[in-house]
Amino acid sequence: MPLFDPESIRSDFPVLAKLIYLDNAATSLSPRQVIEAQVTAEYHYRANVGRGIHRLSRMATHQYQEARETLGRFLGGEKGTLAFTKNTTEAANIVARGIHWNKTDRIITILQDHHSNLLPWYRLKNDHLIDGIDVVDSTAGTVSAEDIESCITKNTRLIALGHASNVFGTIAPAKEIAEICKDKNILLHLDGAQTAPHLPLNLEQIGCDYFAFSGHKMLGPMGTGGLWISPDVTGDDVPAPLCTGGGMVQSVSGTTFTTVSGPGRYEAGTPNVPGAIGLAEAARYLTNIGMKNVADHSAALARRMIRGLAEIPGVRVYTPEDAPLIGTVSFTVDNVHPHEVAYFLDEAAGIMVRSGEHCCQPLMHALCLTGGTVRASAYCYNTRDDIDMLIATTEEIAGMVK
Ligand SMILES: Cc1ncc(COP(=O)(O)O)c(C=O)c1O
Repeated sequence: MPLFDPESIRSDFPVLAKLIYLDNAATSLSPRQVIEAQVTAEYHYRANVGRGIHRLSRMATHQYQEARETLGRFLGGEKGTLAFTKNTTEAANIVARGIHWNKTDRIITILQDHHSNLLPWYRLKNDHLIDGIDVVDSTAGTVSAEDIESCITKNTRLIALGHASNVFGTIAPAKEIAEICKDKNILLHLDGAQTAPHLPLNLEQIGCDYFAFSGHKMLGPMGTGGLWISPDVTGDDVPAPLCTGGGMVQSVSGTTFTTVSGPGRYEAGTPNVPGAIGLAEAARYLTNIGMKNVADHSAALARRMIRGLAEIPGVRVYTPEDAPLIGTVSFTVDNVHPHEVAYFLDEAAGIMVRSGEHCCQPLMHALCLTGGTVRASAYCYNTRDDIDMLIATTEEIAGMVK
């Protein structure tokens, strides 16, 4: 018995009638409901938020605040601060540029992580704002609490952890790592780009300090996302805003100013109001399906992929089957460039996958994968037939180069 029936939702994603979409780790599709929520906002209450007195402005402000609350509930972080950002990358940069660093501070990053969760921290080192970076090896596809603990020094101020790898699709033991962090008084930044779409989350229970996520990977609109900051974060650990300007200011006097408190501090200028409303609709849509169902379904499809692909002679699978998984699997076909595999999968069977380095050059260099990998990533609307077609077509490709 399937844990959840994707057929029940596929008609909400019209493009699925024409192709097999397995590039969800890059960007997911949006259901009609999310698009309609944005269109309704555009047609019926297009106005700036928190600024006007008139009816449309009040309606937009109300919907925007409600969107924030919906996202806070979705993430299990109602007590924290949830600022809308344009994506995970912006959220990580707010934390990296906003914390008041000491020159002796060190940061731990993970080899397998996305450039968006490496470069903001590397830049601090390059700008001489911190002492340095300690990198945890993760070439086997997983990272454990022990791996991380062994890299901690007395100067470790923050650990920047990818909650799930966008290459391997493995999930990091965030709660365990958060406990170590609490114990040693270290800040934990979680890159949740790959987990917000797939896992039932309770950020307050996990115990991280910052959580970054993107709307476009969780059925929401492009250019939306957020930064969640724990209510336990205080003093110099509360990031200063990355941008200043209208909307985030309390008072201006001469050339000095004070900022509003709460999430508005991080949202200078006119925000993406219809985007936030669409993102909240995506959270509601996923909640209706049930995030536990989504997680189980994606992981089951990933395991089906691993088993099927691993049996094909000439195919190497990099995702470990025995680890906790989202829906993502990386593989290569001997003597065929990943881009050629991706091209053939599309041409032969209408299958969309990602190929290349996946914004993870340090990992690809460590694995000596000059062309990167092929990455197939499943989501709530994918079926076992989709996976079987991927496996069959990959077998065809591998067979052609024998
Ligand atoms: C793990 C991870 N972190 C960060 C990002 C960056 O996301 P965005 O481009 O939406 O900021 C991605 C995108 O692929 C990702 O997979």
